[in-house]
Amino acid sequence: MDVIKILDKTFERYLSAVEIEAAVTRMAMEMNRRLAGKPPLFMCILNGAFMFAADLFRRITVEGAQISFIRLASYRGQTSTGAVQELIGLSEDIAGHTVVILEDIIDTGVTISYLMKQFQALNVAEVQTAALLFKPGALKCNVVPDYVGLEIPNDFIIGYGLDYDGFARNLPEIYRIKNTEPMLNIVLFGPPGAGKGTQAEFLIREFGLTHLSTGDLLRSEIAADTPLGRQAQTFMDKGELVPDAVVIGMIKHRIESHRDAHGFIFDGFPRTVKQAEELDRMLEELGIPVSGMLSLEVEKEELVSRLLNRGQTSGRSDDRDAAVIENRIQVYHEKTAPLKQYYANQGKHFHIDGMGAIEEIGQRLKAAIETGLKKLHRQ
Ligand code: AP5
Ligand code: MG
Repeated sequence: MDVIKILDKTFERYLSAVEIEAAVTRMAMEMNRRLAGKPPLFMCILNGAFMFAADLFRRITVEGAQISFIRLASYRGQTSTGAVQELIGLSEDIAGHTVVILEDIIDTGVTISYLMKQFQALNVAEVQTAALLFKPGALKCNVVPDYVGLEIPNDFIIGYGLDYDGFARNLPEIYRIKNTEPMLNIVLFGPPGAGKGTQAEFLIREFGLTHLSTGDLLRSEIAADTPLGRQAQTFMDKGELVPDAVVIGMIKHRIESHRDAHGFIFDGFPRTVKQAEELDRMLEELGIPVSGMLSLEVEKEELVSRLLNRGQTSGRSDDRDAAVIENRIQVYHEKTAPLKQYYANQGKHFHIDGMGAIEEIGQRLKAAIETGLKKLHRQ
């Protein structure tokens, strides 16, 4: 069967059992070669990686190889990603071992970066990472796995251990979401601290979209110490906008490298009329215009309090200083807020109350997409 339905979503077959087996075998052979002489302790990250780990481990021939199973519990908190994670189930003393983390999939790279730090802190000899599936297009951290089975586009996938709401883990093949809807391109808008990043995470999963956050892209350039990053940092540290030409070039490159996306969530872009005009031009060329702008409205005191709060843990230089936060909000009002009118003129502006609980706001956005944006899109 090439197409299956799980709950409310339809999926199409993407990787056959034979293709998966070939990838796992290839990874095992590479591990047997590279790990010879340093008996590895494989760490399977539950739940998703259980099937991959079982198939891989039975092909490992390195003497002294061991396997262990751990899981990560997530709860919402005050970090840059909005999620704090805790490692559960590590019972043995792993100091001195060569640890190989087994993940079914690496997308944003946030989890694997966290895990690597946790293991490094436990005085292991070495930490290596292996992912059956790797989505370079979704990456937000600077992570390159040591072993990769297959590189895949940024689609929502299930099967072979991966689930949709707990279902489909038992499928021997991998399926990806089938999108029969027209491409959704959402401008997720709002002042600093409005919850753009937080809500984007939810919407990506809900609608199978690709997240393009200029703030995140710029921060990864800074982390990698590239010339672009060094140039951007001077503006970001002061809460000023990075020049249009820089961000437009960056976004253009990303859109072009995600031609197979089901749609985009633009987070923190556009921020000036010039950027909005350029975005319209780029998307028109591809025949996939902006579907609508969802503008999160949040009171100023709440914005400042959220950002200062996050500043205690996020490591974001622009979150620590009240004067910089003040400037970011002012720059927003001067240069960015006029975009609401820009999209209103196109009949594409949707006002969303951004005050209240995260889940509640997520539901408001979802409703606006389903009742407003999609309808607009079909006209
Ligand atoms: P979060 O979800 O992070 O909010 P956000 O709207 O994403 O806030 P940012 O600080 O990322 O916005 P920004 O626009 O200043 O930054 P950007 O990276 O785009 O939520 C914030 C906090 O509140 C979190 O701790 C979260 O957990 C919490 N929270 C969320 N919802 C909540 C709720 N309902 N209740 C309670 N707490 C909640 O840009 C940074 C800089 O990059 C810019 O200043 C600029 O210099 C540069 N830059 C980026 N894009 C451009 C561009 N297009 N052009 C020019 N320069 C650019
Ligand atoms: Mg953000």
